[in-house]
Amino acid sequence: MPESRFLAACRRQPTDRTPVWFMRQAGRYMPEYRAARAQQSILEICHRPRLVAQISCQPVERLGVDAAIVFADILLPFEPLGLGLSYNSGGGPKIWRPIRRPADVDKLEAVDPARHLGHVIDGVRQTKAALAERFPTTPLIGFGGAPFTLASYAIEGGTSKNFTTTKQFMYDHPQAWHLLMEKLSRLVGRLLALQAQAGADALQLFDSWVGCLSVNDYREYVLPHTRRAIELASESGAPIIHFGTGTATLLEAMVEAGGDVIGVDWRIPLDEAWARIGPRAIQGNLDPAVLLGPRPEIERAIHDILRRAGGRPGHIFNLGHGILPETPVERVKSVVEMVHTKA
Ligand code: CP3
Repeated sequence: MPESRFLAACRRQPTDRTPVWFMRQAGRYMPEYRAARAQQSILEICHRPRLVAQISCQPVERLGVDAAIVFADILLPFEPLGLGLSYNSGGGPKIWRPIRRPADVDKLEAVDPARHLGHVIDGVRQTKAALAERFPTTPLIGFGGAPFTLASYAIEGGTSKNFTTTKQFMYDHPQAWHLLMEKLSRLVGRLLALQAQAGADALQLFDSWVGCLSVNDYREYVLPHTRRAIELASESGAPIIHFGTGTATLLEAMVEAGGDVIGVDWRIPLDEAWARIGPRAIQGNLDPAVLLGPRPEIERAIHDILRRAGGRPGHIFNLGHGILPETPVERVKSVVEMVHTKA
């Protein structure tokens, strides 16, 4: 595909404007998405590649973002693993057979992502085809959950505030923990590589909740596994975005685990984070809640981030975490315009 400003920034090459896209850009804040969701559950959507392609294109059309992300969920591998997955009416995930004892790790089904997650790969393929037809210069991002964030859902059984069940399992059963992390890192590494083969131009690894760990525990219990997942994904040649939240104390260790682009939230100023991660591209770091505020406040926050980026090649503008469902679409659209005109 023709070189896009998003892909150029992933490789720290200069761009005409700062590229911008949003985590969770296809989602409930958007009326088009809500209309599709009124007809079917999130799992049903994820199993229908044609619908996936349609939904993934909605934000490109509506917002003019510089990249599309395939519509899927990091927890989809839990279905073939045998953990049981559903989403409640509010969208929150529920895992029916969570991992609570070491024996539960042994009982996980062997997953071949090419076979058991064919719907995800087909979703990428069909989204790529739809983009080629309608938005031929817009690259596609494939994604997966990092081993720690996946393990936390598998053990907690759903969303958690402090991850104590996860940490207790990790401390009580280090051997079973490492086995679980090995299984998850291999699965997600291969799933990411397959998405690249199916047409994804870049790959994002979401380690959304890794910021709950101390640096020592990150290094001991997580880093080698995340590194393995990133190595497997990198074999595809696609640039890798390594994202987490609350990671201000973990940035150097995350860089060691790998990634061409490091995703940061809003709890650390962009220039400070960039100095810490060294010669890598950076993605972020607007607080999603700022978009609930008035326009001058949004403008001020965007200006501050762009000033801290200082026009250096390798900045991808994004939120520090996903768009909040209550965000007005027009505000999201105005961010794209502000970033494109002010960079
Ligand atoms: O970014 C995009 O537009 C692509 C779609 C996407 C979804 N999930 C669809 C979805 C992406 C990139 C994800 C990743 C994901 N899923 C993460 C990592 C990113 C993050 O936000 O930290 C995590 C932790 C999950 C697990 C998950 N799935 C949760 C915690 C929830 C419920 C909370 C919520 O945000 O609503 C989901 C459900 C989910 N996945 C929804 C969407 C659009 C909302 C459900 C609905 O449509 O009713």
